[in-house]
Amino acid sequence: MFSVQTYIDRRARLQAQLSSGLLLFLGNDESPMNYAANTFHFRQDSTFLYFFGVDQPGWAAVIDLDEGRTVLFADDLTIDDIVWTGVLPTVAELAANGGVTETRLAAGLDAVVKGAVARGRTVRYLPPYRPENRLKLFSLLGIHPDRQGDAASVDLVRAVVEMRVIKSADEIAEIETAVNTSVDMHLAAMRMVRPGMMESEVAARVTEIAIAAGGHLAFPVIATVHGETLHNHFHGNTLKPGDMFLLDAGAETAMHYAGDLTSTFPVDPTFTPRQKEVYQVVLGAHLAAVGACRPGVRFRDVHGLACRRLAEGLKDLGLMKGNLDDAVEQGAHAMFFQCGTGHMFGLDVHDMEDLGEVWVGYEGQPKSTQFGLKSLRLARPLRPGFVFTVEPGLYFIPELARRWKAEGKFTDYIDYGTLETYLGFGGIRIEENVLVTPDGCRILGKWRPRTLEEVEGVRLEQR
Ligand code: GLY
Ligand code: MN
Ligand code: MN
Repeated sequence: MFSVQTYIDRRARLQAQLSSGLLLFLGNDESPMNYAANTFHFRQDSTFLYFFGVDQPGWAAVIDLDEGRTVLFADDLTIDDIVWTGVLPTVAELAANGGVTETRLAAGLDAVVKGAVARGRTVRYLPPYRPENRLKLFSLLGIHPDRQGDAASVDLVRAVVEMRVIKSADEIAEIETAVNTSVDMHLAAMRMVRPGMMESEVAARVTEIAIAAGGHLAFPVIATVHGETLHNHFHGNTLKPGDMFLLDAGAETAMHYAGDLTSTFPVDPTFTPRQKEVYQVVLGAHLAAVGACRPGVRFRDVHGLACRRLAEGLKDLGLMKGNLDDAVEQGAHAMFFQCGTGHMFGLDVHDMEDLGEVWVGYEGQPKSTQFGLKSLRLARPLRPGFVFTVEPGLYFIPELARRWKAEGKFTDYIDYGTLETYLGFGGIRIEENVLVTPDGCRILGKWRPRTLEEVEGVRLEQR
């Protein structure tokens, strides 16, 4: 945990932004996998961690803005629990670690919230994403789960988002720890991969490194020879000579801050000429995008620059043609780059996605509905303390190519004949983690290979 004062200050800043009523925060519960006692890995709600620092299931909190009181609701372990779990800190001890002195039994939440509702007081809550918390909100507030997202407090969402988007020095240090472990995961994978291995062996090794560092994975590992599938969690393929291998993996520290890196490298020790050409295009877009990140620049424009550089490289390869300004404006490049150039991260790998991308990445402005651009999670002007990924890529998706070709889509800008020869190539993504500084930006974490020569250098170390 951070210092007690950190949590006290965060709550004070939050309270100063909102007028009257109750703020209701629901922590997460254990979630059963296949029967009640066999649970998924417990993950606390990130906003609950941010304001209270309590990393245990079954907690809730109420901040009464009119009375200036914060109360945490949870139950101490019974002797029956202790038999199975061992001794854990008491509710009072855990609350005190975050500077909260008032605690009550979990069952006490009902009377506090229902009493406030009965007196016509405002109860603000954040959009729920777990079924257990949807049921609790239904019971406490009588709002049907289908309407809970719309009825969540926009004021509270905006206040929380605007605090969490700016990372403090303490948070940046923690994030950098996560990124450094993530670099170790990537270096290990780059050194071990060889033909005949299974993807699952690589996934297991990077998972081991994340857990051995004291935390866990920040998100399910992508370790695949089918990098064209953006979030591919299948690990059953055997690596063959000539394949490209894409690893998108990040560690989460014990305090739950994330890293999120992607490396793409050949299963052979060196790239083929075609792999080199495509890699170089992605790297050029990546470097241009990172080079453009500084305070005041809209990330929408960083994305536009990355798309433009990708399109230029694709034109050089004969995959795109025509006027590239028009092609990118209309979204033709999304045949090859179907997603956004980056997203904020921190306590969540897609930071605060539960609170709404339109608030986190767009300051309430509407998102585009254009294929490709609609998947851009971050568009707003950058500010010092923002932490986000830069992850342009090129993805050759046979199904998409065939669909657009059959529809005659963007035939002025896409050379479908050349594209046919790339189907089966896979995908390439280069993902780094970036902090905006007062006068520019900085790539977080220790060195890892990015250029063709650096990647091949590490690949050849294994021989
Ligand atoms: N690792 C998921 C992502 O890059 O968005
Ligand atoms: Mn990633
Ligand atoms: Mn990412």
